[in-house]
Amino acid sequence: MTKITLTQPDDWHVHVRNGAMLKTVIAHTARQFGRAIIMPNLKPPVTTVKQALSYRKEILNALPADSTFQPLMTLYLTNQTSVAEVKQVAESAFVHAFKLYPAGATTHSEAGISTLVTVYPILEAMEKYNIPLLIHGEVTDEVCDIFDREAIFLEKILTGLIQQFPALQIVLEHITTKEAVQFVESAAKNIAATITPQHLLYNRNALLVGGIRPHHYCLPILKRESHRLALVKAATSGNPKFFLGTDSAPHLSHLKETACGCAGCYTAHAALELYAEAFEKAGALDKLEGFASFYGADFYQLPRNTKTITLEKQDWLVPDHYGENDISVTPLKANEMLAWKVSAF
Ligand code: NCD
Ligand code: ZN
Repeated sequence: MTKITLTQPDDWHVHVRNGAMLKTVIAHTARQFGRAIIMPNLKPPVTTVKQALSYRKEILNALPADSTFQPLMTLYLTNQTSVAEVKQVAESAFVHAFKLYPAGATTHSEAGISTLVTVYPILEAMEKYNIPLLIHGEVTDEVCDIFDREAIFLEKILTGLIQQFPALQIVLEHITTKEAVQFVESAAKNIAATITPQHLLYNRNALLVGGIRPHHYCLPILKRESHRLALVKAATSGNPKFFLGTDSAPHLSHLKETACGCAGCYTAHAALELYAEAFEKAGALDKLEGFASFYGADFYQLPRNTKTITLEKQDWLVPDHYGENDISVTPLKANEMLAWKVSAF
């Protein structure tokens, strides 16, 4: 196959930041996706509908002039979130979900939740109003091995949470293990998951073999090959519980290439192309449209996009970095060739 035309996809998990970084990265996401679920982990975090609306405006103002891209906003769940705020989300046309970060789990998660029972009344209200909870599913226990943090979260936290709130819509974000795949497959239909391109393309060797590779460092961290294979199988299975969420997470290059580098892979520059590569390798390009363009919209009860997008087999070299002046972001596969290119809308 040298050309594929798909219904325009959406990105169900992306970090676009704000200020100059937002201006650098947003066109990459808007070039291919109709909509995207925008992560709220700014500094300070987006915790109220009012803040989300002003962040949404900032994103819309940063878009290329002819863009029809729609940012779908989320709120950061904190110990201070109120039931009244949940009600406001339910009434808002622009805010679509809450994001749960366990405190300390990842970039800008200091304001996250340390004891889940504290927010039970909030989760109860979300369940009642049918507002999805998006979860960064890792425990933060110091003695828990970083490669086990997701699997332990499923066992210790998520199982109980689902028992407590059986009707709550949950997206387990950026899953990285075969345990998470099995968990989501065997859970009820209100439990879904997103999968990133880096977790479909790389195993944990990509972090360490031949030298330390800070641009492959993201959280949850890359896992062993058997997990990657389970993720590829899930993404290409046609099961609507698994859908596209890039977790594209731009950081300044020098903050990743340092003694204590930030977590996050920047993939927005070539998101659909990277997924196409993973699906092609699995012999499953025919399953890309469901994963990228249908299942996420269906889960969020939003209409599927009506435009189309075309990918062509065409080699191109990923630049060394994006951005100008003070902003330099190193993309995934910098200075490497990609085989697919989005060619038309
Ligand atoms: C994300 C970021 O940089 O905001 N980093 C990452 O490694 N994925 C945060 C997150 O989604 O965990
Ligand atoms: Zn993320």
